[in-house]
Amino acid sequence: MFDMDIGIDLGTANVLVYVKGMGVVINQPSVVAFEKDTKKLIAIGTKAKKMIGRVPDNIDVIRPLRQGVISDYAITEKMLKAFIKQAMSRKATFRRPKICICVPSGVTEVERRAVEDAAYSIGARSVLIMEEPVAAAIGANVDIIQPCGNMVVDIGGGTTDIAVISLGGLVVNRSLKVAGDDYNDAMIKFIRRKYNLLIGEPTAEEIKIQIGSVYLRPQDDYMIVKGRNLVNGLPDKIQITANETVEAFSEVTLQIINAILGVLEVCPPELAADISVRGIILSGGGSMIYGMEQLVEAKTGIQAVVVDQALEAVALGAGKSVEFMNRLKKDEK
Ligand SMILES: Nc1ncnc2c1ncn2[C@@H]1O[C@H](COP(=O)(O)OP(=O)(O)OP(=O)(O)O)[C@@H](O)[C@H]1O
Ligand SMILES: [Mg+2]
Repeated sequence: MFDMDIGIDLGTANVLVYVKGMGVVINQPSVVAFEKDTKKLIAIGTKAKKMIGRVPDNIDVIRPLRQGVISDYAITEKMLKAFIKQAMSRKATFRRPKICICVPSGVTEVERRAVEDAAYSIGARSVLIMEEPVAAAIGANVDIIQPCGNMVVDIGGGTTDIAVISLGGLVVNRSLKVAGDDYNDAMIKFIRRKYNLLIGEPTAEEIKIQIGSVYLRPQDDYMIVKGRNLVNGLPDKIQITANETVEAFSEVTLQIINAILGVLEVCPPELAADISVRGIILSGGGSMIYGMEQLVEAKTGIQAVVVDQALEAVALGAGKSVEFMNRLKKDEK
């Protein structure tokens, strides 16, 4: 009989499901389309994301987790169940799964328990709820069990989680409701102000991913952006350079940097000394914006490294944690 161990990153932007022995089997946007009256699911994930802005009145398309908190619990539960079911259908098993779920660190105790209940109601044998930065560190192969300080900055879609971890637990922790998605909003505002051009969120995200930067590039790059001219109301296009985006992003970037500096300030001195030697670990999609490493390094004086699989680290860490739980149990026997 196969053991079914599942690690889940229940993120504001994306939900990832890791299955032991198979890796990340689900990686989909946290978006749900449902009938307004009956709350019946119409679509989830990528299919639902494509429906944004294109549905009739009786259908709603929402992100049930916003800014790191569960804004619609009933829909979050339905989405979670649907993703777990999809993941389980990929592996023949007769046993109920063990599940580790990472939730945004801003969730309340009630929401935390609600997520736990949702996992049990889908048939989980045991459920472990974990903080995102701890999972990100485990996923990035950082040995967090030692009495040694590690700093993780997870810049997701809705939240930036900054944590100092030692002996497997959080020593100092700060969750900021400013992250990757705020860079999209900043880009929309910048282009409207500077070029009188209105662009949508998908375009703003595309600019961010393609040429967006938080640190000046030695060799500049550019991109043509299409939108609606706010003066004459007609379709129009402009050219934006990578180094212009540094300015567009500066306010959001400053908030993230200030939060990192704030955590370093209140960090116990022994652990701060460890961090200055071991460096700062960056994870989450927002950490992939060009120049994030250089910027954090320049502002803190501490080396910063973006983990290899920045978007998957939390799910990998959650998956590894379930395996670790199993091993602990075996050692006890
Ligand atoms: N290559 C990239 N460059 C820049 N930003 C990126 C890239 N890929 C994804 N992103 C951004 O990363 C964010 C999503 O990251 P991630 O999947 O880590 O968030 P999440 O875990 O769902 O959210 P949270 O942790 O806040 O709950 C989005 O804002 C997305 O636009
Ligand atoms: Mg995340």
